Amino acid sequence: MAGIYIHIPFCKQACHYCNFYFSTSLRNKDKFVEALLKEIELTKDYLAGEQLDTIYFGGGTPSLLEKEEIIKIVDKIAVYHNLNQLQEFTLEANPDDLSPDKIKAFAELKKWGFNRFSIGVQSFFDEDLQYMNRVHKAQEALDSIKRVQDAGFENITIDLIYGTPTMNNERWQKNLDTVFQLNIPHISSYALTVEPKTFLERKIKRGESKPVDEEQAAQQFKILMDQMRKHGYRQYEISNFAKPGKYAVHNTNYWRGKKYLGLGPSAHSFNQTARRWNIANNISYIESINKAQLPFEEEILTEAQKVNEKIMTSLRTMWGLNISECGINNAALIKNKLITINPTHYSLINDVLILTDEGRMFADGIAASLFIE
Ligand SMILES: C[S@@+](CC[C@H](N)C(=O)[O-])C[C@H]1O[C@@H](n2cnc3c(N)ncnc32)[C@H](O)[C@@H]1O
Ligand code: SF4
Repeated sequence: MAGIYIHIPFCKQACHYCNFYFSTSLRNKDKFVEALLKEIELTKDYLAGEQLDTIYFGGGTPSLLEKEEIIKIVDKIAVYHNLNQLQEFTLEANPDDLSPDKIKAFAELKKWGFNRFSIGVQSFFDEDLQYMNRVHKAQEALDSIKRVQDAGFENITIDLIYGTPTMNNERWQKNLDTVFQLNIPHISSYALTVEPKTFLERKIKRGESKPVDEEQAAQQFKILMDQMRKHGYRQYEISNFAKPGKYAVHNTNYWRGKKYLGLGPSAHSFNQTARRWNIANNISYIESINKAQLPFEEEILTEAQKVNEKIMTSLRTMWGLNISECGINNAALIKNKLITINPTHYSLINDVLILTDEGRMFADGIAASLFIE
């Protein structure tokens, strides 16, 4: 079991909160696609012996690619990897790219196994979208979802952001109601995070935007958890909710520590021994690949790092952390450390540690307090 992630490092416009790697100049798009094809060749042995079960085009904005470019990329992957068992092929798309013609073109990719759209909606209200500096309008988001559904895609996920200063609880509730009305089987929802070196950070520092109200964000997270549960979704990971059977296979494999290969600038790869990450710069990436050199840095993981990653990722999921799988000494250590944690924040049954709704509010802190050295 393994996955391939392809990072498409281009966006039409920079959202003010975003610190993912992308360029707003599409000048090098053709050269990038050529380099990507070469990178697929150069990394052909990374997942040797593994069955490929997911392909994920993320970004940046993969929906800026043409159908033909995606076909070229997937055909190249198929030269070196066995796609017979491919379960899930996701493409992240921004609503403004999903014109009727583009959806028709993307629908042709079903023959290549494409079966899942991830649409970056963020909010169904223009005030929030404007605050975030999104390119699209609320109406475009609604229209794009309906069009994608009409084109026969029922495996859809959308991204929503809460905790923006423009968002009150009532509006947040309305956003969720829209999800339920549209019968969207999966959502990923994140609290607005002020990332370093973003326009949002500068805006807040200059006093041009209110800072994020942590209390309000916590209330909206609570509303999110309650509402999703009430409507039959499982919170299978802190920020991910799905109807039964609609879990994202690709992301779930990340959290379960499966191997994955990341292609494109800034993409990360993991082979259960080491992590590596590509250079986050389109020009340097293209130049290096053209010289047949893979532009990555790598970190070999120590045993403690492997256990700590398992603690961090498992605790975020509904399956929890099986502490007996952390090694006998480590399991004892984790049990000792649990004494420092509020007992209303977790349950421990048959050695499986699972966070409660309350605990999920502090997941990262709880995980960090259980880390071993
Ligand atoms: C990096 S984008 C890539 C997909 C696509 N370009 C889009 O904008 O939807 C993936 C998702 O990360 C989330 N995201 C990125 N930066 C964030 C931030 N600072 N705070 C909260 N969510 C963020 C957004 O919900 C976004 O949809
Ligand atoms: S959120 Fe998506 S569209 Fe906006 S800048 Fe980031 S990657 Fe690009």
